Amino acid sequence: MKKIYSISELKDKEPAHALVNDVDLVIVKDAEDISVLYGRCLHRGALMADGHIEGDNLICGLHGWDYRYDTGVSEYNNNEVLHKFTTHIDGDDLLIDEEEIKAFATQHPQPFNRDSYQGEYADTHAEDTEPYTGYIKELAENGLKNIGHHGFTSAMGVDRNTLPKWEQIQFLPAQMAKKPLLDEHEVSTKVVIGPRAKKPLELDLSLIHI
Ligand code: FES
Repeated sequence: MKKIYSISELKDKEPAHALVNDVDLVIVKDAEDISVLYGRCLHRGALMADGHIEGDNLICGLHGWDYRYDTGVSEYNNNEVLHKFTTHIDGDDLLIDEEEIKAFATQHPQPFNRDSYQGEYADTHAEDTEPYTGYIKELAENGLKNIGHHGFTSAMGVDRNTLPKWEQIQFLPAQMAKKPLLDEHEVSTKVVIGPRAKKPLELDLSLIHI
C-alpha cells in the first residue's frame, strides 16, 4: 500500500493530483466518498486534476470532456472511462495498491516524458483541428533558435487548392476570324469547285454527298 494523500488536506469536490509509478491520478472527495481515477483525460491527455466539478461530473479543463467522478464513466460517451483504482483508508492516510497501478501502467504505457521541457503536457492525440499546437510548443520551447529569426517561411501566392481547376472551366467555341452574320443576312449555300478553273463547277447545294 502506498500513501497518496492526507485526507484532511482534500477539499470537497476539488480535484487533487497524485503521481504513482509515473501514472497520474486524480482524487475527488465528496463528503465520505473518495474516488481515485486515472488522472489523464482520454481526449488529449490533459491533467484531470486541473479540471473542475460540475454536478456529478469531473470536467476536463481543456475541451470540457466529462467523467462521473464516482465511477470515471463519461456521461456524454459511456465508452470513455477513466479507470477507477481501489482505495484504502488508514486514519488520515489515503492509500492505494501500488501493484494495481503497476499493472495499469504495463497495460497503458504512459507517453509523458516528464524530464523534458513540457514533456508532462504532451498532446496524446494531436488533431488537425488545431494545426498550430506543434508550432506554438516549438516556439515556447526553443524560441526562434531552430526556425530562424524570420520565423517559418512558405511559398507566396494563392493556395493552389483555392484556384479553379481545369475541369471547372468551360470553353465556349466561337468564330474568331470573321464576325458571325446576324440572322437576317442572306447566306449563299452555293459550292464552287475549282474557282480558278476555266469552267468552275458551281453547285447550289450546301452539302456534297460523296
Ligand atoms: S484534453 Fe480533455 S477534453 Fe480535450
